[in-house]
Amino acid sequence: MNKIEKITSLAKRRGFIFQSSEIYGGISGVYDYGSLGVELKNNIKRLWWKNIVGTRENVVGLDAAIVMPPKVWVASGHLEHFVDPLRECKKCRKRFRSDDLKSKKKCPECGGLLGRERTFNILVETHLGPVKDTANLAYLRGETAQGIFVNFENVRDSMRQKIPFGIAQIGKAFRNEITPGNFIFRLREFEQMELEYFIEPGSQKKWFDHWKRERMDWYLSLGIARESLRFYKHKKNELAHYADMCEDIEYKFPWGWGELEGIASRRDYDLKQHSQISGKDLSYFDEKKNKKYIPFVIEPSAGVDRLALVLLLDSYHEEEVKGQKRVVMRFDKELAPVKVAVLPLLRNKKELTKKAREVYQMLSDQFLIIYDEAGSIGRRYRRQDEIGTPYCVTIDFESLEDQAVTVRDRDSMGQERIGIKELVVFLGDRLKRN
Ligand code: GAP
Repeated sequence: MNKIEKITSLAKRRGFIFQSSEIYGGISGVYDYGSLGVELKNNIKRLWWKNIVGTRENVVGLDAAIVMPPKVWVASGHLEHFVDPLRECKKCRKRFRSDDLKSKKKCPECGGLLGRERTFNILVETHLGPVKDTANLAYLRGETAQGIFVNFENVRDSMRQKIPFGIAQIGKAFRNEITPGNFIFRLREFEQMELEYFIEPGSQKKWFDHWKRERMDWYLSLGIARESLRFYKHKKNELAHYADMCEDIEYKFPWGWGELEGIASRRDYDLKQHSQISGKDLSYFDEKKNKKYIPFVIEPSAGVDRLALVLLLDSYHEEEVKGQKRVVMRFDKELAPVKVAVLPLLRNKKELTKKAREVYQMLSDQFLIIYDEAGSIGRRYRRQDEIGTPYCVTIDFESLEDQAVTVRDRDSMGQERIGIKELVVFLGDRLKRN
């Protein structure tokens, strides 16, 4: 099995990620997050929010609707530009992105003849209301950013923000990708974490460099290996229609370097377009400089699912311990879905399980924990290693005498004896970020 197959299998087996509607054969490019996956995803989003909104006075949050009217996408340019060139096989009717085909002339699946290149808009359409006609046409947002631009004035005014300031949002986006794939790398339904940082025109280079540094530092702070991350600068012909500069933070995926986050300088493109098409003036009066302008924007835009995939890949380690294979997910402790596992040494000794339940009760108030009494202690440690639980707390016969437990560290596998009374503080200290 290659690494991506190992991750896909572990993700399903241990409840991180499932194919969506699997019992009906699944739906391509759409996945569901299981009990551990949702914890991982929530931790990603919580840490991003804390870093972007929580620690900055001039960044505020927003949660805009997913469904937006066509005019938004006319203004944003997505109806015109959000297209993928594709070619269809005349024999099996499969469609491929032209970029994926490179110069191939035959269908990679069946060898059939490929048709001419056509463009295909990847916005997902829907209809709202009882009648399915063009008057009711709406789009599921293709990027969360537009929810921010259309609310620029509401947020600026209600939160009394002055340039430079940012509006952050986490939410679902939808794209009718022609070739979704590589597990959760390219999805049709996915989540984005986007910041639109509004600045004075002319200051874009300074802020672009600032956000590049900030965002790379954040990924490093999550423990992702430095050598697996790099910047990729977009060439002129690769820039999106709204950007004058863009650099991606790329991760070294098993199939090659791929985008994890894009940092773009969107100029005043979006606010100008929305001003023109909505008729509402979205310019800003800068009191300090005594001038009116449409703010420019720097946008760091990250994918929650892409980051979940990166963390699954980057944390996955196989080791040999006493002649046996150990799979361990070395998640950063704040990202780990489960923080502590409580394990009575034996399941059929009432006094041990009773004590273990007491410890469980005490800890469950503080951390997300698991209680597990099934199987040998060694197997239970391995189960926790495989989902990246940083600490296992074992209750043994001595615990009944000395009111202490054994705490085992996931990474070093070292064990320490800690008094039950000290356990909350002991674990709390170690689970904090360095
Ligand atoms: N607002 C700018 C924007 O949407 P993008 O480069 O198209 O830019 C930003 O997307 C991020 O969203 C990407 O870096 C990636 O992490 C994530 N993303 C984009 N398309 C995706 C897809 N089809 N599946 C999963 N994640 C995706």
